[in-house]
Amino acid sequence: METAKLGKTGFDVSVVGQGCWQFGGNWGEVSNDESLGVLHAAADGGVTFYDTADVYGNGHSEELIGQFLRERRDDSLVVATKLGRRAKPLVAEAFTRENLRAWTERSLRLLGVDVIDLTQLHCPPTVVFSDAAVYDAMDELVDDGWIRNYGVSVETVEEALTALEHPGVATIQLICNVFRRKPLEQVLPAAKAAGVGIIARVPLASGLLSGRFTADTTFVATDHRTYNRNGESFDQGETFSGVPYEVGVEAAQEFAALVPEGVTPAQYALRWILDQDGISTVIPGASRATQAAANAAAADLPPLTAEQSTALAELYDRRIREYVHGRW
Ligand SMILES: NC(=O)c1ccc[n+]([C@@H]2O[C@H](COP(=O)([O-])OP(=O)(O)OC[C@H]3O[C@@H](n4cnc5c(N)ncnc54)[C@H](OP(=O)(O)O)[C@@H]3O)[C@@H](O)[C@H]2O)c1
Repeated sequence: METAKLGKTGFDVSVVGQGCWQFGGNWGEVSNDESLGVLHAAADGGVTFYDTADVYGNGHSEELIGQFLRERRDDSLVVATKLGRRAKPLVAEAFTRENLRAWTERSLRLLGVDVIDLTQLHCPPTVVFSDAAVYDAMDELVDDGWIRNYGVSVETVEEALTALEHPGVATIQLICNVFRRKPLEQVLPAAKAAGVGIIARVPLASGLLSGRFTADTTFVATDHRTYNRNGESFDQGETFSGVPYEVGVEAAQEFAALVPEGVTPAQYALRWILDQDGISTVIPGASRATQAAANAAAADLPPLTAEQSTALAELYDRRIREYVHGRW
């Protein structure tokens, strides 16, 4: 698998990484065996970058990654976690030095590591991205040897541009996919110029871009694609990329019709992201090992031609832009 420099972290990581939210209960039931199967299939496919968070399954995703690291014993594996959303309520005042240290201590314990490769502020309230004291506390965690690097995970391009002003920020995680193109305009060029890595999340628009959902598809009650479809529980942008489900299904079917033979829509969607200048790694989630293996293989596909790329831009402008472009 091709690797790329991960911003200011000093790590080179696989251009396709592995998202690990699926091991946390927000996607219906994914068993421990299935979760570990996903992790090992990704590693077998050459994936060296794994993204989790302290809140996924209230720490269960971190624990499983800890088990995976012990089973794999591979120094090339890089794990990124996130902190901040254990705050109840989720208010800026919760981002104190003491809380940031306590959350980090818990992640160190659950991952079973001495130092965390990368910790990301997990979509905190917007004002946190301008709070010098928060960055000072993160710098202190680096100085104390608890974390090697820190970055941010953001919801909007404005938050990304604010975070870019802080020199300690090594990476920015944001939603970028065929149905979410706004980061291409300003954030990707600015991050590249600043040497900051971009981690592209929700690359399949929560599975929509696999082209396998129809208007009649249902998801279990504990799946965020049921309970957060309209942003009832957290930011609507995290579910189907913020595209209304019925609109997304129809647009995804049009997208699938543009995919060349021998490639799956999910792989084509991942390849498109890898073609965007400034992307360091893309982190599809997976609930089955076969998905993780297929996603890793997307890195070997040829880049899209100019004509193929234009067709996807046209689809976005015609079907998607009005729902998402002004919002995130
Ligand atoms: N705020 C944040 O920082 C934040 C928010 C969201 C996500 N993330 C991170 O980003 C990662 C990726 O985003 P995501 O998991 O939300 O969404 P995603 O990657 O767009 O979609 C994942 C879903 O797509 C389907 N899928 C995956 N590979 C497939 C394949 N090869 N063929 C067909 N279907 C496939 C699976 O659906 P089924 O399970 O239905 O099979 C899977 O659960 C997360 O795992 C997490 O690490 C971070």
